[in-house]
Amino acid sequence: MVLKLETGLKLVCATHNPGKAIEIAELLDGRFEVVTAGALGLPEPEEVEATFVGNAVLKARAAADASGLITIADDSGLSITALGGAPGIYSARWAETDAGRDFAFAMDRVEREVKAAGGGDHAWFTSALAVAWPHGAVAAVEGRVDGRLVFPGRGSNGFGYDPIFIPKGESETFGEMDPARKHAQSHRARAFDKLKAALF
Ligand code: IMP
Repeated sequence: MVLKLETGLKLVCATHNPGKAIEIAELLDGRFEVVTAGALGLPEPEEVEATFVGNAVLKARAAADASGLITIADDSGLSITALGGAPGIYSARWAETDAGRDFAFAMDRVEREVKAAGGGDHAWFTSALAVAWPHGAVAAVEGRVDGRLVFPGRGSNGFGYDPIFIPKGESETFGEMDPARKHAQSHRARAFDKLKAALF
């Protein structure tokens, strides 16, 4: 069966974060009417899988089956070679504090743990995307960008771990870079390129 996404269809984005849904709608070239799982009042499943793709599929499947609509979900994070791939799927969790998410806190932990592990600056970001049809098929892709870590972090553009990551071939961190330059080479852009090639 050849699965294609037709322009204009209503697509659920399996997130409760409106900002993320807007970004995803833009990355899909505005072709679809995107509604969030949050706006539909769908429950957020627990991310219990061991891989980015596994968690993206789990989120897409849950929202598609509950809503009866085709659904897109993503899962992403930073993996560090010296830490055996951590924080990886736990990237958001490393930023959890009693006062909410704090990425300065998470980046301090990364620096401490990399030093304790004896160093090594290689890291990569991964973005997994999954599209699920209600009670039907699922398609998943993964994009990756390799680079190196720098401490202390630099720049205030972007979000999350951007200040400590310099993509391969660049001298600026994602946090220092013009957003368009980041978006042209990011893990997320690469995953969306693959998704579009497969489903448009
Ligand atoms: P989730 O995909 O919403 O579960 O969260 C993934 C986490 O990975 C985010 O909260 C960020 O900490 C981190 N992350 C994913 N993509 C990026 C990025 O492009 N820049 C910086 N941090 C990122």
